[in-house]
This record gives sequence, structure tokens and C-alpha cells, in this order.
Amino acid sequence: MSLLTLGIETSCDETGIALYQMERGLLAHALYSQVAMHNEYGGVVPELASRDHVRRLIPLVRQVMNEADVSLEQLDAIAYTQGPGLGGALLVGASIANALAYALDIPTIGIHHLEGHLLSPLLSEPAPKFPFVALLVSGGHTQLMRVDGVGRYTLLGETLDDAAGEAFDKSAQLLGLGYPGGPALAKLALLGRPGMHKLPRPMLHSGDLEFSFSGLKTAVLTLVKQSNDDEQTRADIAYAVQEAIVEVLAHKALSALAQTRLSQLVVAGGVGANQMLRHRLTEGIGKRGGEVFYPDLEFCTDNGAMIAFAGALRLELQQGKKDYRFDVKPRWNLADLGYGDLLP
Ligand code: KG4
Ligand code: ZN
Repeated sequence: MSLLTLGIETSCDETGIALYQMERGLLAHALYSQVAMHNEYGGVVPELASRDHVRRLIPLVRQVMNEADVSLEQLDAIAYTQGPGLGGALLVGASIANALAYALDIPTIGIHHLEGHLLSPLLSEPAPKFPFVALLVSGGHTQLMRVDGVGRYTLLGETLDDAAGEAFDKSAQLLGLGYPGGPALAKLALLGRPGMHKLPRPMLHSGDLEFSFSGLKTAVLTLVKQSNDDEQTRADIAYAVQEAIVEVLAHKALSALAQTRLSQLVVAGGVGANQMLRHRLTEGIGKRGGEVFYPDLEFCTDNGAMIAFAGALRLELQQGKKDYRFDVKPRWNLADLGYGDLLP
């Protein structure tokens, strides 16, 4: 029997809903992004995020059910993001998931947001095969993980401070660009000239797979203060920022492949859309023989499909519960997932 799973993602500033069935795949999914609302504050405002999830969630569930032509009674389980993320935002998804499941007398399952990201490449074609290395780069994460199978994740390295997307966003803000700054900065960088400014490459040669980006924004701030405020200069700085971040990410991702002796690299998260990063990785992997996967952007930025999918896989492992007491885990280490001996 193939369970029909509803997935709910509300960990940050995106309400994501999806319906997944193992045999038929993704039946429908929808996303509401709050980016425009947070834009005027220059970043995500947690309280506003929670309130907006309350407004969007149920209409989005209805929309997805209609699209898939499925009724609530046909649902077998509900998966929701239990953490990590913004506490209030997570609570919206968790409480609606559990209330709905209680009313329908079906199990729920709390999913680790990063597990969703790590498994989401399997939703795209071509899909990587286990084992692979995943580079997770978004506004909230910068991580290199080894993925051997469902529930079998090893952290290879991560950022000690800011995430890569945050480094893009904060630099963009210093250049007077809006939020989220990554795409705007990348666009401005297209007009930039290489070699005009040299920014630090934090931890490039640290020999491990850790990252640090907080020093970069200080360097960018100094550079912006010292420079003219004309369009060409700003574009040159944008180019230098992008190059510094991309060089570190590409170097460490390729080192992770070398260290693990794996050949497949999956790039997930919003920063994975960056063309310069894609170019550097494709070039680097081409040289050493291997394959790089860029899952469809809609599956590698925050979305409900990855939560429905991870939920479906875990339900197959009999991990759903009909106990409607719930909590959320704003901070949750992936290593503490506790699959225990359920896995082969
Ligand atoms: O995965 P994502 O949508 O999730 C959250 O973090 O919520 O990632 C968003 C991040 C932002 O920091 C954004 O600036 C960055 O991804 N981003 C980019 C590009 N597109 C999105 N950064 C650099 N270049 C891009 N083309
Ligand atoms: Zn995410």
C-alpha cells in the first residue's frame, strides 16, 4: 500500500504544501513566499512570518488537494517540519498538522528540515544515487554532508558563523540592494570587472571543510566606505564579493569529494542558483571526473515537497505516530535524528 502523505513546511519565510505518494510521486505542491513582505525590513521578521503562515496555510492545503483531486479523507499521514527554524513559524505548521491529523485519525511525523533538503534531489531528474556529497547553501545553511541513504547523514563541514546566502544578502545590503540580496548582487556582478578588488577568502586553506563568512562582510563594509558610489564601482565590488564566496564554496565542495572519494555532488539551497558557482563546480568536477547535480530550484529552495517526500520515506519505516502531543525544535542537530536500529 502506498501512503498518501501531506507535507507542511513553515520553518522560515515560505509556506510550502505538497502531496506525495510513493508509487505516483509528487501529486501537487504549492508555495507561498513571504519575501516581498520581509523585503522592507531587510530580513525575515519572525513574528510577521508566523502570522503570515497562519493566513496562508489552510488555503494552500485546499489548493493542493484540489489540484490533485484528493479529499481530506483520503490522506494517510501528515508530515511537517518540526525544526530547525523559527519557533513561532514552526509551531504554526506543527499545530495545524497535528490538529488536522487528530480530526482525521491518521498519524503525523515531524521532519528535520535539513533531512528534507538532503533527500529533495531525489525528486528531480536526473536524480543522484546514494552515496553522494551534498552542498547545502541557502540563507540559513552552509553545510557539506555525506548522504549514504535515508537517515544516514554525516556532517563533513559547516559554517562557523554566517551562511553563504547570508553573506550574499548582507553584502548586497551594504551595496544598497534589496532583500534577498543574492540574486540582485549576482545581477549587478554581471557588469563588474574581474580583478578590480581583492576580498579575503575566509578559511580557503584551513585544510578542513568548515566555512566562515562573517569576516567577509566587514571587509566589504570597509571597501564600500573607501570607494566611489558610482554604478561601475558597485558592480566591481559585487563581482569581487561573488567571486570570494563562490571560490570558497567550490574549493571546499571539491575537497569534500576528494576526501570521501565519492563522485556525485548535489548542490541544494537558494545559493545553488548562482551561475558563477555552477560554472566553477562544473569546471572543477569535469577535471576530476564526477557528476554534479543541480536539482530543480523549486525543490532545492524551501518547499513542501521535500517534507512530504521525507515524510513518506519515514512512514515506510513505520515512524508515524498517532499521538497528537507535539513540540517543535528551533535548534535541532541532524546528528540527533535517532533513526537507531530501524535502518539496515
Ligand atoms: O534556499 P533558500 O530559498 O532558503 C532560505 O534560506 O530561506 O535560499 C535563499 C538564499 C538567500 O540568501 C538568497 O540571497 C540566496 O539564497 N540566493 C542567491 C541566488 N539566488 C538566491 N545567492 C547568490 N546568487 C543567486 N543567484
Ligand atoms: Zn531550508
